[in-house]
Amino acid sequence: MTLTHAHPALAPHGAGRFAARPAPRHLLGLEAMDRADLLRILDEAERWREAIDAREPDSRELAGITVCLGFFEASTRTRVSFELAATRLGARVVTFSVGESSTAKGETLLDTVRVLEAMRVDLFVMRHPASGAPGYIAEHLQAGVINAGDGQHEHPTQGLLDLLTLRRVWKGRFEGRRIVLVGDIAHSRVARSAIHGLTTLGAHVTVAGPPTLVPSGIAALGVTVSPALEPALEGADAVMALRLQRERMEQGLLASTGEYAREWGIDARRVRLLHEDGVVLHPGPVNRGVELSPDVVDGERSVIFDQVTNGVAVRCAVLARCARALSEAA
Ligand code: CP
Repeated sequence: MTLTHAHPALAPHGAGRFAARPAPRHLLGLEAMDRADLLRILDEAERWREAIDAREPDSRELAGITVCLGFFEASTRTRVSFELAATRLGARVVTFSVGESSTAKGETLLDTVRVLEAMRVDLFVMRHPASGAPGYIAEHLQAGVINAGDGQHEHPTQGLLDLLTLRRVWKGRFEGRRIVLVGDIAHSRVARSAIHGLTTLGAHVTVAGPPTLVPSGIAALGVTVSPALEPALEGADAVMALRLQRERMEQGLLASTGEYAREWGIDARRVRLLHEDGVVLHPGPVNRGVELSPDVVDGERSVIFDQVTNGVAVRCAVLARCARALSEAA
């Protein structure tokens, strides 16, 4: 499908545009998504993955659409894969990061994105250190907003690429599968999106990590909390190690990276506790020798680089979905 530029956001400003549930032109999180919606995106992402693997030529699906990548925090994987995905779909792409934007001169985030919208940006992809920032701007814009990671809230396209990776490994079946998320659960937007997506699709999620980094109410999200790592790993179908954020040590939540690696790091011995087909995931960037030993990162059970490739496919599907919603609303 080709969209003309005489589209979108072209729906008039007005009250009541946003119901309690986010409009489909946005992707703010996986929490509100039902099983059918998740599977629709994964099916579309699977087709994009096949197109990427086949090195098919770029499509024109987003021709006439302008995508703005606004990154107020560092990123390699997410920013580049959104850019690759938007380009693959034929969109016009502009990028700005915090140091280059006028927010550094005191302009509010909302004023900055309104300026960009006035330049006819159709889709904003936003990473921001404040939880809820993409949701906040979504309430004030006619453009679509895609959350590329907000504070400790959600990282929905990471969650979707994790789901796509596991669906491929698990041959399409989430029910009855068991995955362990290990590390800093408390501060991890990756963990939150993964938990929402995996539990909605029927997988069993166990979380494990230093007691200071596992929030007391986490079981309310439908997960099991394991006080120890190794019993949780036994027979599991996957383990996802989360990035250790070194600032946690400064906050007194962890003693040392060495102690963390000993207690919670995934090495070859711990990988052998998994089911014989069990795989190792990590959202990146990896602290080698801390969350994962180097031989595990590069080992045959690692699907970390497959996650990265699936990230491009998922972002193609999400951009196309949001652009279709804009077109339908116009
Ligand atoms: N997984 C992830 O969000 O990586 P980046 O910070 O490199 O985007």
